[in-house]
Parts: sequence; C-alpha cells; structure tokens
Amino acid sequence: MSCSSSSSSFRPAHAFLSGLLVGAVVLGLGGCANTANPAVEREPAWDAPRTRALAERACFDCHSHQTRWPWYASVPLVGWWLQDHVDEGRAHLNFSTWSKPGHEADEAAETIEEGEMPLASYLWLHGEAKLGADDTAALVAGLKATFAKDPPRRAAGAAGTATHDDD
Ligand code: HEC
Repeated sequence: MSCSSSSSSFRPAHAFLSGLLVGAVVLGLGGCANTANPAVEREPAWDAPRTRALAERACFDCHSHQTRWPWYASVPLVGWWLQDHVDEGRAHLNFSTWSKPGHEADEAAETIEEGEMPLASYLWLHGEAKLGADDTAALVAGLKATFAKDPPRRAAGAAGTATHDDD
C-alpha cells in the first residue's frame, strides 16, 4: 500500500508516551499541594490542653488550618493527592473554623472509637500520630467534653451535600 511507509514511521507507542509526558507536565504544574495554610479563624473551646495536643498530633494535619505539609507535598501528583485529602478532611471537620459548619464534625469521637480515624494510610508515614490506648481514650473523652461545651455546627440540610467554603 502507498501509505505503508508513513504508517511505519508513526509509532503509537511513542505517541502514547509523549502524551503521557505532556499530561504529567500539565498536571505537575498544578499538581503540587497548596501548602499555604489558610488563617485559623476559631478553634473550639477545648476542655483541656491535653485534648488539643492529642488532636493536633493525630487529626490537625487533615482537619485544621495547621497542616504540617511533608516535603513530598511538593512532588507532583503526590501533592495533588495530599491536597485532596486535606480539602476533604477540612470539609468534614475543621478545628480551625469552629464557627462554620462541618459535615460530620460531631462524629469525631465516634470515628476514633471505631478505628476509622486517623486514616490508616496516614499512619504508615506518621508514627507520631499513632495513639496508644491511653491517649485514644483521653482524646475520645476530651472531644466529647469539648463538643458538649462548644458544639460543632452542622451544615444545613442533609449531611454530605453542602460545599465547604474554605476562605
Ligand atoms: C490523613 C488525613 C486525615 C487524618 C490525619 C484524620 N482524618 Fe478524619 N478525615 C479525612 C478525610 C479525607 C475524611 C473524609 C473522607 C472519609 O471519610 O474518609 C475524613 C473524615 C472525618 C470525619 C467525618 C466522618 C466520616 O467518617 O467521614 C470525622 C468526624 C473525622 N474525619 C475525624 C477525624 C479525627 C477525630 C481525627 C484524629 C483522631 C482524624 N479525622 C484524622 C482525613 C483525615
């Protein structure tokens, strides 16, 4: 066929790889985490300094404006993934914007009791956030006492539908 020479010069594998490369560069440009934390507006009226210290250790990276971004947050795609986690975490429960509603903030103690939080994937890399039985019990009791004193706002309407206003 007359087009055999041109079709042999077209290498689908190369086209595919350059496509991937372009995609990675484009994502890379916007793929790092925005490590500038927004301002802390208002924290809950903590029942005790220990409760805050434990929450800071185990929850603040994803549920506050005091995220300690790791160095790999500036790695494209990884940073993007982290940012997504933090955005989602903050939307559900944000210890730095206590006057604003979080979707399921009131379930905080429960998620710890059920072993759901902190996220397992986070604990692989953050040994310091792992709480022993004693600290876990103190955090659960402390959050309950804090929330009784200064309850989190519930988003109006059904949980999980409202969008969070971060700024
Ligand atoms: C590595 C990030 C990360 C850490 C650390 C973390 N969370 Fe979360 N949290 C999330 C994300 C992401 C969501 C939303 C999606 C989900 O439920 O998995 C969430 C959701 C929640 C919710 C909403 C209810 C639910 O089950 O979705 C509560 C309450 C919560 N977290 C409490 C906590 C508490 C309390 C701590 C500390 C003991 C903590 N989290 C630590 C990322 C984190």
